[in-house]
Amino acid sequence: MSPAESPRVEPTVGETVWPGAGPREVEPCTFVVLGASGDLAHRKLVPAFYNLALDHALPSPFGLVGYSRTPYTDDQFRGEMKEAAAEHSRRQPIDATVWDGFARSMTYCAGEFDDPASYGRLRACLEANERRTGAPGNRVFYLATPPSTFPEILGNLSASGLLKKSASSPWSRVVIEKPFGRDLASARRLNEIVHRACDERQVFRIDHYLGKETVQNILALRFANSIFEPLLSRRHVTQVQITVAETLGVEDRGGYYEEAGVLRDMVQNHMMQLLTLTAMEAPVAFDADAVRDEKVKVLRAIRPIPESEAGRFTVRGQYQETRIDGRVVPGYRGERKVAPGSMVPTFAALVLGVDNWRWAGVPFYLRTGKRLARQLTEIAIHFESIPHPLFGHDAGSDRPNTLILRIQPDEGIAIRFAAKVPGEAMQLREVTFDFRYRAAFPEEAPEAYERLLLDCILGDATLFTREDEVEASWRLMDPILEGWKAHPRVSPYDCGSWGPPESDELLAREGHVWRKP
Ligand code: BG6
Repeated sequence: MSPAESPRVEPTVGETVWPGAGPREVEPCTFVVLGASGDLAHRKLVPAFYNLALDHALPSPFGLVGYSRTPYTDDQFRGEMKEAAAEHSRRQPIDATVWDGFARSMTYCAGEFDDPASYGRLRACLEANERRTGAPGNRVFYLATPPSTFPEILGNLSASGLLKKSASSPWSRVVIEKPFGRDLASARRLNEIVHRACDERQVFRIDHYLGKETVQNILALRFANSIFEPLLSRRHVTQVQITVAETLGVEDRGGYYEEAGVLRDMVQNHMMQLLTLTAMEAPVAFDADAVRDEKVKVLRAIRPIPESEAGRFTVRGQYQETRIDGRVVPGYRGERKVAPGSMVPTFAALVLGVDNWRWAGVPFYLRTGKRLARQLTEIAIHFESIPHPLFGHDAGSDRPNTLILRIQPDEGIAIRFAAKVPGEAMQLREVTFDFRYRAAFPEEAPEAYERLLLDCILGDATLFTREDEVEASWRLMDPILEGWKAHPRVSPYDCGSWGPPESDELLAREGHVWRKP
C-alpha cells in the first residue's frame, strides 16, 4: 500500500486517534512463572494478571503455571495468589467472578531450579494445564527468581525441550528480570547463556520503568508534537537533570542491596533508560528494532567516565541514622542483613556527556538515592537564559525556562517561564504551565507490569532491553564501579535530605544547581 492509500483515521472531537493505535491481537498462551512463591509474583505479577483479566485483556484461552520450591497444592497456590491480589491490586475489592475465572487458568508445580528431573514434572504439569485450558502451546517463561539462578534455569528449560530456539509457532519466550548481570563481563556471559537457549527475538529483559505511562510519554511528548523537539538540543539546552529520589530505605532487601548498591540497582537500568529516551533521535518507526537502535546510539555516544576520574565526576553517599521529629530513623548500616561497616552507597550523583551533534557540551546530571527528602522522579531540561534582559536584571526575568517531565508521583509535564506580575511596573515572576495526567485523563493508568506482560504476549519487545543495550550500559558503569572499588568511600547523608553536600558541589563546579522540586 502506498502512503497515499494508507487508511486515514479520522480524529474524533477532543481525542486524536493515531493510525495503528487500535486494540492489538493477543494470542492464546500460557505463562510459567518461575519463582511463583516469591515477592515479585505476589506484589506485581499476579496483581497485574488479575487487572488484565478485569479489563478482558488476557487472551482466551490463557494459562498460568506457578513453579517454585514451596510445596503448594493447586488450591493453596490459588488461595495465596488471591490474597496477594487482594493486598496489591490497584483495583479493589477483588471481583469474585473475574477472579474465579482467572484462578481456573492456574496450576502449580513444585520443583527445584537446579534439578533437571523437576523440569520433567514442570513439563507434565504445563501440558496438563494446556489440555485443561485449551491453550495451544505458546509459552512465556518468566524468571522471577534471584539472578544467580538464571543460568541454571535457562539451561534446564532448554535441555528439557521446554524452551526451543525458534520463533515459529507454537512459540516460546523468556522474560528475564533485572539485574541482568552485575558488570559488563557477567552481562555478556549471561547473554551467551540466553542465546544458547533461545534467539534474541524470544528474549524480554525487563526494566519496569519502561512500562510506566509517563516514561512512554517522553516519546509522545518528543515525537508526537512539533513544538518541543526543535528545542531539545545543545542550541537551546544548557543542562538536563534526572532525579530518581525515594523516601524509603532498603527495607527488607539488605542482603540483595549489599551486593548491588545504588549504581547497579538504579543507575545502570532505570536512570539510563530515562536518559536515553530523553536524548535519542526520532526512530524511523515505532517498533522494537528502530526504537532500540536509537537508544543504543545514545549509550554509545556517552563518554565513559574513566576509572581514574570516578572521584571527580561521581558522588557516593550512604544514609545515616537521623533523628526526625524526635523519632530515630535507622541508617543503612543499621538495616537488617547489612554489614555494620558497609561501604555500599545508597546515593549516587554523576555527570555524563553525550558526545554527538545534538548534545555535545550539555551536561546530563543524574542523582538517585534512598531515604531522600521526597519521593520524586523527574527529568528537568534547563534552557538558555535570554540573551539580553530587556526589562532589567531586577525585573525577575533572569531565570532560564525549564521543561519538567514529572514521571512520578503527581505525573505530568510543567514549563516554567516568566510572566508579568499585574501592576504598573514591568515586574516579572516565574510561573508554570502545568499538565497533570489525573486532570486530563480520568482513566486510571495501568501498572507498569500490566503493559509489559501484555507486550510479552504480543511479542512486542519495544519496551524491553536488547542485548547490545544492556551491554552498552554496563560498559559505562564498569569504570565507575572499578574506580569506586579502588577508593572505597561513602559520604554520609541525613535521612530526609537531598544527599551529601558533594552532590551540590558536583553541579556548582559548572555553575549549576539542582532544581528544587
Ligand atoms: C527497583 C529497585 O528496580 O526499582 C528498587 O530495585 C527501587 O530499589 C525500585 O526502589 C523503584 O521503582 P519505582 O517504580 O518505585 O520507582
